[in-house]
Amino acid sequence: MTAQELGFRHRFVPAAQDGPPVTLVLLHGTGGNEDDLLSLGRELAPGAALLSPRGKVLENGLPRFFRRLAEGIFDQQDLALRTTELSKFVTAAKESYGIQHHSTVAVGYSNGANIAASILLSVPGIFDGAALLRPMVPFVPFDPPRLDGVHVLLAAGERDPIVETGNTDLLTSILDSAGADVKLHWHPGGHELGQDDLFAAKRWMDSWLLTGSKRTA
Ligand code: MLT
Repeated sequence: MTAQELGFRHRFVPAAQDGPPVTLVLLHGTGGNEDDLLSLGRELAPGAALLSPRGKVLENGLPRFFRRLAEGIFDQQDLALRTTELSKFVTAAKESYGIQHHSTVAVGYSNGANIAASILLSVPGIFDGAALLRPMVPFVPFDPPRLDGVHVLLAAGERDPIVETGNTDLLTSILDSAGADVKLHWHPGGHELGQDDLFAAKRWMDSWLLTGSKRTA
């Protein structure tokens, strides 16, 4: 199935001619859209390709990537379905835009970080790296995939009213035990991102581009 057939409204920005062979998959938070993270993507990895889908689920008119029953309580059946659907979209989009050889890095905020974490924990091989900004545990995997060689940044808020610090610790240990190379950044505030998060994400991406990006054009 092609990316268009999978029906995600999305933006695609091709890589610059001298850009790295990397595609950032930008995943917005609740109420966001496919335009929200384009400038963040450009800052984090100048010249990389950007693929930015809009979540298909609507919660009171606000786009999301999967349904929830309440704040922090996810509809696990819908999450599983949407995780598969988004993974297929990423694969199909890379093929239809001719960038199969690119490494793929997710950059997700909040609900977007949660679906990125869900993909990491259930569909191995989609993401080579992920910057998860204010994520929470999407589900506790019974049998997590091996994530050796996958680099993950978790940017969490010490006073986040949505994600408890214990939840961040649990996600860190799940990813860690699966073999991912996990870096954790603690922001002194809440769920909103601060400059320090953006600096941490930039530092992480710069070092990933130097060392973690193994595939070549
Ligand atoms: C979620 O539903 O994914 C999280 O609670 C974050 C949010 O979107 O508020």
